Amino acid sequence: MNGLAVFCGNANPQLAKEIAQNLGVHLTEVFVGRFSEGEIRVQIKENIRGRDVFIIQPTCPPVNENLMELLILIDAARRASADRITAVLPYYGYARQDRKDQPRVPVTAKLVANLIVSAGANRVLTMDLHASQIQGFFDIPVDHLYAINALCDYFTSKNLKNAVVVSPDVGGIKMARAYAKKMSAELAIVDKRRDSPEKIEVMHILGNVKGKTAILVDDLIATGGSMIEAIEALRKMGIVEAYAAVSHGILSGDALTKIKKCDILKEVVITDSIPLGDPKANPKVKVLTVAPLLAEAIKRIHNSESVSGLFN
Ligand code: R5P
Repeated sequence: MNGLAVFCGNANPQLAKEIAQNLGVHLTEVFVGRFSEGEIRVQIKENIRGRDVFIIQPTCPPVNENLMELLILIDAARRASADRITAVLPYYGYARQDRKDQPRVPVTAKLVANLIVSAGANRVLTMDLHASQIQGFFDIPVDHLYAINALCDYFTSKNLKNAVVVSPDVGGIKMARAYAKKMSAELAIVDKRRDSPEKIEVMHILGNVKGKTAILVDDLIATGGSMIEAIEALRKMGIVEAYAAVSHGILSGDALTKIKKCDILKEVVITDSIPLGDPKANPKVKVLTVAPLLAEAIKRIHNSESVSGLFN
């Protein structure tokens, strides 16, 4: 690990600490605070001249604060003569606005990519992007990881009988198909129509779910609306119980209350790409760490080894 420097902002320091532990390196000391008016103040406290720098900062809520911290950390590392800077975004926020699907709307996934590159990042390491094509929004190398192994291993160890993997919307079919294949389970799809970001109308269930245990797979859970609406639609079609496998737990608004209230939903399994607070407060939420996965990817990037080899 010669020449490596790993540090983070305030987005997910616990994950950064665990990544550093997995790598067997110390987290480079960095001050990330605020001026009295709220502007972000950063100082890298150790020499990183000529280092291969990895900045771990998911752009989770508070999204704008965390994004701005990341940009300023990249700028500080560049001006401190880092040899190469990799922005490590276990969760890439602003990703859902990834195309111009209505008149006069922005494409924030591209805007954020431009900001990260302009700040001075040479590479990006991320996980379970909302849409894989977002990789193409960067004109620098992007390594894209998947939480599928950690999530599937957990569900395989539970040995659920009569399981069917369900995509809660048509956009998630590819992801759900990969999970179904890995777990040797059947696949079903909820054909959802979204009228506005807050209002969801579930339309049809494609596939056989009657009498089965549904494992709903999604890249993220924000308000929980998509997940709970899909589970209610599946309930009407005869599922006996439901589980959820989710890469990124944004858990905004009353998501946790919705999860708690949904009696047929037994467990929501989420990675620690975003900090989820005290696990005891939400017994239905099971957190799996992706620190070893991210650490292994950082090691391989640093040593110029294959990252895709991690998934073969
Ligand atoms: C949709 O395309 C995404 O994969 C998620 O299903 C959705 O963004 C989750 O949002 P919410 O939890 O607010 O329904």
